[in-house]
Amino acid sequence: MFSHTLTAVFVALPFLAQSAFAGDCTRSYTIKEGDICDSISAANNVSTYQLSAINVGVIDSTCSNLMPGNTICLGYAGEDCSTTYTVVADDSCEMIADNHRVNTTILHLNNPQIDQDCSNVYIGEVLCVGDKVQVPPAPGNNFVPGAVIPTTAAPAKPKPTAPGAGAPAVPAPAPTTSAKVLPTPAPAPPKGDHHDDGDDVDDEDLPFCDEL
Ligand SMILES: *[C@@H]1O[C@H](CO)[C@@H](O)[C@H](O)[C@H]1NC(C)=O
Ligand SMILES: *[C@@H]1O[C@H](CO)[C@@H](O)[C@H](O)[C@H]1NC(C)=O
Repeated sequence: MFSHTLTAVFVALPFLAQSAFAGDCTRSYTIKEGDICDSISAANNVSTYQLSAINVGVIDSTCSNLMPGNTICLGYAGEDCSTTYTVVADDSCEMIADNHRVNTTILHLNNPQIDQDCSNVYIGEVLCVGDKVQVPPAPGNNFVPGAVIPTTAAPAKPKPTAPGAGAPAVPAPAPTTSAKVLPTPAPAPPKGDHHDDGDDVDDEDLPFCDEL
């Protein structure tokens, strides 16, 4: 059965010479209409990096040359991570590593396209979450397979905006506003018919907080 698979791979991709020597292909996939690299990855438990690394010279760096009917290799013997996770919104590398009981060192080694801050992980990216290093090495020349983010992809973490907006852990803002400090009359008419300093402070705080 494996020899059949191998034949199919090498017949379909006679120009695979660059990566053919790297290992025995133990699983393969025939491309279908409408496939994108990450859909193939997610459906077959092969990481974004591994799919790209194995198919250097076959699939281009933006994954724009998938040909329906062609067969690609998904895993090499002994270098095949099939424990994968597909990134969703708000994921961080720490969360992913914790949830799969791997540490971030191993996570980065298995997914070398992830930058040091984990800021380039995108929704739909497929990561190897195996607990040992088990992916094929990068081909060298500073080329990191799987590093090109699809143009339609959204980052897992949106860029940080104003710090702490709405976050309960953030300390309360400075307790005074100019409206309370300055002796000039406030624009709003008094609500009560008598002065009560404690109540006034509370009432004025509420709309101010709402605007935050
Ligand atoms: C991918 O992994 C999941 C979780 O281990 C498993 O349920 C599923 O059958 C796997 N799919 C393939 C195509 O191997
Ligand atoms: C992760 O585990 C490896 C192997 O056990 C170890 O060498 C490495 O220092 C660990 N990294 C972190 C960040 O704990």
